[in-house]
Amino acid sequence: MSHTCRIELDGTSYDFPVVEGTENELAIDISKLRDTTGYITLDDGYGNTGSCKSAITYIDGDAGILRYRGIPIETLAEHSSFIEAAWLVIFGKLQTPADRDRFSDLLTENSAMPLSMRKHFDAFPPNAHPMAILSAMINTLSVHEPQADTHNEAAMEVVAARLLSKVRTIAAASYKSSIDQAIMHPRYDLKYVDNFLHMMFSQPYHEYHPTPEVSRALNLFLLLHADHEQNCSTSTVRMVASSQANMYASCAAGVCALWGPLHGGANVAVIEMLEEIKRRDIPVKEYVRKVKDKEDGVKLMGFGHRVYKNFDPRSKILREAAEKVLAQTGGDPLLDIAYELADAALNDDYFIERKLYPNVDFYSGMILRAIGIPTNMFTVMFAIGRMPGWIANWKEIHDDPKSRIYRPRQIYIGDTDGQWVPRDQRG
Ligand code: CMC
Repeated sequence: MSHTCRIELDGTSYDFPVVEGTENELAIDISKLRDTTGYITLDDGYGNTGSCKSAITYIDGDAGILRYRGIPIETLAEHSSFIEAAWLVIFGKLQTPADRDRFSDLLTENSAMPLSMRKHFDAFPPNAHPMAILSAMINTLSVHEPQADTHNEAAMEVVAARLLSKVRTIAAASYKSSIDQAIMHPRYDLKYVDNFLHMMFSQPYHEYHPTPEVSRALNLFLLLHADHEQNCSTSTVRMVASSQANMYASCAAGVCALWGPLHGGANVAVIEMLEEIKRRDIPVKEYVRKVKDKEDGVKLMGFGHRVYKNFDPRSKILREAAEKVLAQTGGDPLLDIAYELADAALNDDYFIERKLYPNVDFYSGMILRAIGIPTNMFTVMFAIGRMPGWIANWKEIHDDPKSRIYRPRQIYIGDTDGQWVPRDQRG
């Protein structure tokens, strides 16, 4: 195979190197394009742009493959925990028993928020969106640790544990303040997921004890969200990291990018869609027709993906997990509507031709509902899950001596001859 790509522009030929990934994906290296030809590329939405080389996560969207550090998501879902997968994603190797014990201790030691941070929660209005609180509070961590040391792996492990551990404490605290209940302290005898559930659902006079099924379902939900290569929020984290901003600031930006309904907010949009269908008793066929006719811009939320054009492997795992946990917690009428919608869409030419399949968000909300997580916390749950991926991508940039600031170009399409008019003469 040729390792250059010849491009002809204005009658002149140019050769550009072809870069090959470890899974044989090919990319034309155009880093010298503008210098040699005067042209730039234009790729609205970056559908054809590789923004970096990365060794963290591999996706083959046509084959429905997702691997963290080379290990298939199905294997991790069956055998691993969120924290083990998080460490794998961040540090690129499976934990030894010693790594596991050390990291577990670090998570425990770093689970509490600084006392002064707890006071911030009083200042947010009761209806503040938890994603706004989460982003603000992750940024606030950098105030408490302005010189976070990440110069070697041991130091990095401490900072990663701090962020991973505190993000769940912050998330639970934002929920507690939104419902005007006491913020619960983390417990030192509980593991990651159970500790989060304790901070979410325990009260000073009543301890919450999750069933093993609920713990396992949440563990799986978080593990399946741990990384997903260069999606919108991870690209945002890398963008911010490329300016050498600290890890907390970069991950806080990731939270903001995740917030939107086309990204992390889709899990909320799915539930709202299913609730609307149920409340207004809309026949599924009629809803699918509205989607196909693009009536009022209505989309089938939880369907479609920029990268997966066959199936989203996470969605398959979550569908089964949702069934299991709902069997234990007592079913959900929205799940029946979801099945009906999925069946209708999967057999409809509109969706088949456009390669639109259920994505991770189509079933994840069912699991969160079954656990008792309120809908306005769904995207926060996604953010807790995605934290290892953001940390790993931040680390990849931070560790790369050749890393450059991200700075795309543009094609300007505005006025070329703007005229200044004095204020008192403007109509
Ligand atoms: N319902 C109906 N039509 C759709 C949908 C959908 N969910 N998704 C895409 N289409 C149509 C779209 O209108 C377009 O049709 P046409 O060719 O007639 O113009 C065609 O399919 C191609 O869509 P696109 O907008 O070019 O696709 P994209 O790659 O830009 O967008 C997406 C990907 C995920 C933003 C989009 O599929 C979508 O909005 N889905 C619903 C929101 C959702 O579930 N988002 C979660 C994504 S997975 C979680 C994550 O990774 O963050």
